[in-house]
Amino acid sequence: MLAGIFGGGDYVKLTQWVERYGSTALVTGASSGIGEQFAIQLAEKGFDLLLTARREPLLRELQSKLERDFGISVTCFRCDLSDLDQVDALIAQAQSQSVGLVVSNAGYGVAKGDFLSVAHEHQEAMYRANSIAPARIAHALLPFMVASGRGGMVFTGSMEGDAAFPYSAAYAASKAFLHSLVLALWCEVKADGVDILLLAPGSTDTNAALSQGISREQLVGVMSPGEVARQGLQRLGKQPHFTPGAHNRLFVTLLRWLPKTWAIKMAGYGMKRALDRSAA
Ligand SMILES: NC(=O)c1ccc[n+]([C@@H]2O[C@H](COP(=O)([O-])OP(=O)(O)OC[C@H]3O[C@@H](n4cnc5c(N)ncnc54)[C@H](OP(=O)(O)O)[C@@H]3O)[C@@H](O)[C@H]2O)c1
Repeated sequence: MLAGIFGGGDYVKLTQWVERYGSTALVTGASSGIGEQFAIQLAEKGFDLLLTARREPLLRELQSKLERDFGISVTCFRCDLSDLDQVDALIAQAQSQSVGLVVSNAGYGVAKGDFLSVAHEHQEAMYRANSIAPARIAHALLPFMVASGRGGMVFTGSMEGDAAFPYSAAYAASKAFLHSLVLALWCEVKADGVDILLLAPGSTDTNAALSQGISREQLVGVMSPGEVARQGLQRLGKQPHFTPGAHNRLFVTLLRWLPKTWAIKMAGYGMKRALDRSAA
């Protein structure tokens, strides 16, 4: 009877999530793309949510939908992660809500092209949002998780964080920082009962590529943001590093095994060609 009401095994799996991580999850970059999908899928699992991004009206729309559809409680918190004072305010909010699951997903890339073609101030704002803010959030929220003996953190990196990418040098470097940090954290807090996952997607169907100067037609093996989020959540607690999509995993493996100079040139060749074709 209960199985009929709650959909059988699904009910058990859903409640296990909240038991494992606590009742409240923070999702950064929840206003669109992969982060919005993370928010929807965590709402389905029964989490109350703290959602953050800069575009507050989009967060409010999502809040209404999730509260209506899933009967959960959603708090929206506007935050520009490039501004570290705002990051501190977000952390205080998360601490006040005893967040036990963090999806540190927000991020963006400056325009792709020559490293020197983008002002260093813009690159540095991106480093703060993509690298420093997630590190600060982890530093501030991990102690509560470690003390509770439970918790989880998913960080959205990128395949570009796995190798040097000419013509996307600054973005790839910002993700490489995150990759190194997150994989080390996975090892440090595993025994304390905290699950850490580095999710490193390839091309995903959001506005991210276009905003960096790459048109949709130039992308290969594009995945849906819902599928990327779904696979990410599925891997949390099972492994430290996951790249969704067999084609993406093959590409990353190839980059790793090729002699370094070949791998860098190959990545740069592909990036430049996609940029030139997008501009044509
Ligand atoms: N799409 C891809 O092909 C791809 C591939 C690999 C990795 N990724 C990574 O996936 C993550 C999600 O990106 P997406 O593809 O879903 O693109 P998206 O739809 O543009 O989402 C990016 C999210 O990050 C937020 N964000 C960006 N800059 C921010 C800032 N300074 N402060 C606070 N929030 C900020 C955005 O919110 P607001 O604009 O409202 O602030 C938005 O919610 C990013 O970390 C990205 O680097 C994407």
